[in-house]
Amino acid sequence: MSIIFDKARKTFTLHTKDSTYQMQVDPFGFLLHLYYGRKAKGCMDYLLTYADRGFSGNPYDVGSDRTYSMDVLPQEFPCLGNGDYRSHAFAVKNADGSVSCDLRFQGYEIKNGKYSIKGLPAIYADETEAQTLEIHMQDPVSKVSAYLLYGVLPEFDVITRSVRVVNSGKENVHLEKIQSACLDFLHGEYDFISFYGRHAMERNFQRVPVMHGSHIIGSRRGTSSHQYNPLMILADREASEDAGACYALSFLYSGGFKGEVEQDQFDQTRIQLGLQEEGFSYLLEPGEEFYAPEVTLTYSQNGLSKLSQNLHTCFRTHLCRGKYRDAVRPILINSWEASYFDFDGQAIYELAEQAADLGIEMLVLDDGWFGKRDDDNSGLGDWYVNEKKLGESLESLIERINKLGVKFGIWIEPESVNEDSGLFQRHPDWALRIPGRNPIRARNQLVLDFSRKEVVDAIFEQICLILDKGNIEYVKWDMNRGLADIYSCGTQEQGKVMYDYVLGLYDFLERLVQRYPDILIEGCSGGGGRFDAGMLYYTPQIWCSDNTDAVDRVRIQYGTSFGYPVSTVGSHVSASPNHQTGRTTSLKTRSVTALAGTFGYELNLGKLSDEEKKEIRRQVENYHKYAPLIQHGLYYRLTNPFKQEVGAWEFLSEDRTEALVHAVMLEIHGNMAVRYVKLKGLKSGHMYREMSGGRLYTADALMETGIPLPAAFGEYQAYQLYFALEDGE
Ligand code: GLA
Repeated sequence: MSIIFDKARKTFTLHTKDSTYQMQVDPFGFLLHLYYGRKAKGCMDYLLTYADRGFSGNPYDVGSDRTYSMDVLPQEFPCLGNGDYRSHAFAVKNADGSVSCDLRFQGYEIKNGKYSIKGLPAIYADETEAQTLEIHMQDPVSKVSAYLLYGVLPEFDVITRSVRVVNSGKENVHLEKIQSACLDFLHGEYDFISFYGRHAMERNFQRVPVMHGSHIIGSRRGTSSHQYNPLMILADREASEDAGACYALSFLYSGGFKGEVEQDQFDQTRIQLGLQEEGFSYLLEPGEEFYAPEVTLTYSQNGLSKLSQNLHTCFRTHLCRGKYRDAVRPILINSWEASYFDFDGQAIYELAEQAADLGIEMLVLDDGWFGKRDDDNSGLGDWYVNEKKLGESLESLIERINKLGVKFGIWIEPESVNEDSGLFQRHPDWALRIPGRNPIRARNQLVLDFSRKEVVDAIFEQICLILDKGNIEYVKWDMNRGLADIYSCGTQEQGKVMYDYVLGLYDFLERLVQRYPDILIEGCSGGGGRFDAGMLYYTPQIWCSDNTDAVDRVRIQYGTSFGYPVSTVGSHVSASPNHQTGRTTSLKTRSVTALAGTFGYELNLGKLSDEEKKEIRRQVENYHKYAPLIQHGLYYRLTNPFKQEVGAWEFLSEDRTEALVHAVMLEIHGNMAVRYVKLKGLKSGHMYREMSGGRLYTADALMETGIPLPAAFGEYQAYQLYFALEDGE
């Protein structure tokens, strides 16, 4: 049993393999948070202390006891209006205009299996793998109920949280803020790790001490964004990759979010993650309900590598779905950096022909095949094939390509519309825009109002007509701008639009997944602008960044690896000099980097020399050899490429008999010092043979002092070292 309710002490205890989470209903019905950390037995309410704290108010029902204050006590789901002046998780505007809520315990339920959430992504698990706890809290005056949902997956050391709010009262209320998870820590010195970035340079690693005041990350863009990722890590100041306590919170949501870490007046730390509250004001009429998107929590007492591995395994096997969840992904060639908008059917066919010759398995026709679309100023919204440009029908092109033994995939951007399109001419009100104001353009396009079902239905119908045209085995779902001008003609309640937009997006994706279960969908938003765990429920891989430069990618993929498994990271070998940076790197460096992802190519194959073609054939073979290990193995970061001269990482098979190490030198200097890379996770006391050199090494020395990367002449040298367990010596 992973969830235990102790009737006498009124504690709920959630156990995973290596962690414990505990909360308690206090005598007044408040739900207090007691503990989250390494596995522990017993009741932890001795951690609570009481004192008369000046200027921290007391609930009315504690009478004259001045030592009891919600401003100081650790809480599970702090509300605005109950005397807690710290940042709250929940705010409700009542019918009389007051903003106040006082949630008290009503009851609970424990079930086998993992709850799911209507219309939203969620970790899934069967009855043997998970348990669900639902705690019912209610405000006595408004009768607003909050059902706090906890999913416990012991094997993964994962606890999920979500909230279902029901307006059980008789009057309308507005939800003004709702955070899906909140963790209070009574003391401790922590660092906050987050992942900031920009277009073409996403998920940079940042680690800063938690200080008094609030540190806020988030997105107001209606997508999870390039600028901050909805992943937060709280780590002991001393925690490293291999040791120390750390916590991760990952938001399964693809819209605006807010994450906050606050250290209060008594040095307590509160961390929260949930919906962006700015612009959010969600009407709930009597009887209506609302779901807060899920947050996945995990804890590791053995440092950050283990923390990431918990998320990797859980997301790979219990968030991603469908045929491609476990399958080795096909190597693809994408037409974008090969020819951008400048192609016809024959050019695409020839790219497929060259791909077939190299052993590449799928061709993806990127932007430019539909409507009037020879650049990025027009055509979005008109999802019909531009046969004039192709010089043939899509069916015939797909058939010709399939005959080469190459699969076919296609790019779409369903959420966007150009003003210069038939769709916009017919339905100008389908775009998000504020009446009487000029809209904000980005990439010269507007966003369709996916909060309206009729808009989602119409675009879905158009896209299905395309996908039904032939043997399409892959779809790249792009989204190339942030939302602005949040105003929908479909509702009087503009505070609902951002959230309902994301529900519309998920509805579309779910219908797509159900109707085309065999299609591999890759998410994308100008590269990694919507790289979040919510999307992974629908798209088992996401284009990691529009930056395909191998050296930048080492850093981008390093940041990404903290929260997301390698099997989800879209990564391609592109041309050199690179189109985004102008940097020159070798084919080997580009492939070693792209192998820490779904692997593919994105360049004009027609321009390759015979030598390069030979090398690509070897890379294709290499991919097939190692893909299962890369996709299903444990991932270790061996260096920090933001601080060190070398970027290195390792894939270790679960039985620890095989280890694949990849490394890229990020700098070059005269008379350079040799850099050593230490392996991780090997079987102590055993020997491993490195297969390219043939030499035998002891596991302990490989982990203690590492292996030298031979100093070589020339920039950005890459190394691939494969070690196999060999007992004997
Ligand atoms: C975005 C994507 C690219 C490409 C272009 C096409 O920027 O991230 O990979 O598909 O759109 O317009």
